[in-house]
Amino acid sequence: MNDTLLTIARRFSCRDFIDKPICESDLLTICKSALASPSGMNRQNWQIVLIENKVIIKEMEDEGLKNLQSYHDKTLYNRIMGRGGKLFYNAPCMIIIAIKERFPKGAELIDLGIVSQNISLAATSMGIDNCHCGFAAFCFAGTKGTEFKQKLQFFDGYECGLGVLLGYARESKKPHDLNLEKLTIIN
Ligand SMILES: Cc1cc2nc3c(=O)[nH]c(=O)nc-3n(C[C@H](O)[C@H](O)[C@H](O)COP(=O)(O)O)c2cc1C
Repeated sequence: MNDTLLTIARRFSCRDFIDKPICESDLLTICKSALASPSGMNRQNWQIVLIENKVIIKEMEDEGLKNLQSYHDKTLYNRIMGRGGKLFYNAPCMIIIAIKERFPKGAELIDLGIVSQNISLAATSMGIDNCHCGFAAFCFAGTKGTEFKQKLQFFDGYECGLGVLLGYARESKKPHDLNLEKLTIIN
């Protein structure tokens, strides 16, 4: 396997980060990998917000949990509580990918997924563990949503798409098994 294939095969979702910062130049490299992503018609309707401020990350986590708890359907909240009650798993750093709706509607979500995976694979290739974090969007779902958008300097009209948590895992984890039943080959 070449280095790229090894990186893809090694990646796993880290849900327990140790308290160790990531060096600034590595973070910049990861952000540049995000910006190198392809996008439909090269519109680049994204904003990469790198958050290294632990106080802000904690505020966002508290707000996200509060919003999740307030929903009538407690499935997601209970899932998080079952995992130790952390949305961000003590990650020292998080990237929020903010996006703007594109035409046709939903196309921006494809770009979002590619950016997120570029971040994840770039980080993995550098020995930096990570986790895509859809739950990050819940931080913006309540009364503090506008405040967070301002704090994170979101561009006008941009919304939180996805978070990616970055840091160093307490323990490495086996990647998920490949489900070959999901592969169809037509000869
Ligand atoms: C779009 C997206 C959103 C995700 N959001 C979360 C999340 O909020 N919290 C979390 O712990 N994992 C999240 N994950 C990680 C998935 O649960 C994980 O990729 C899946 O269980 C497979 O495990 P693996 O990544 O270790 O192979 C997300 C993954 C994707 C692709």
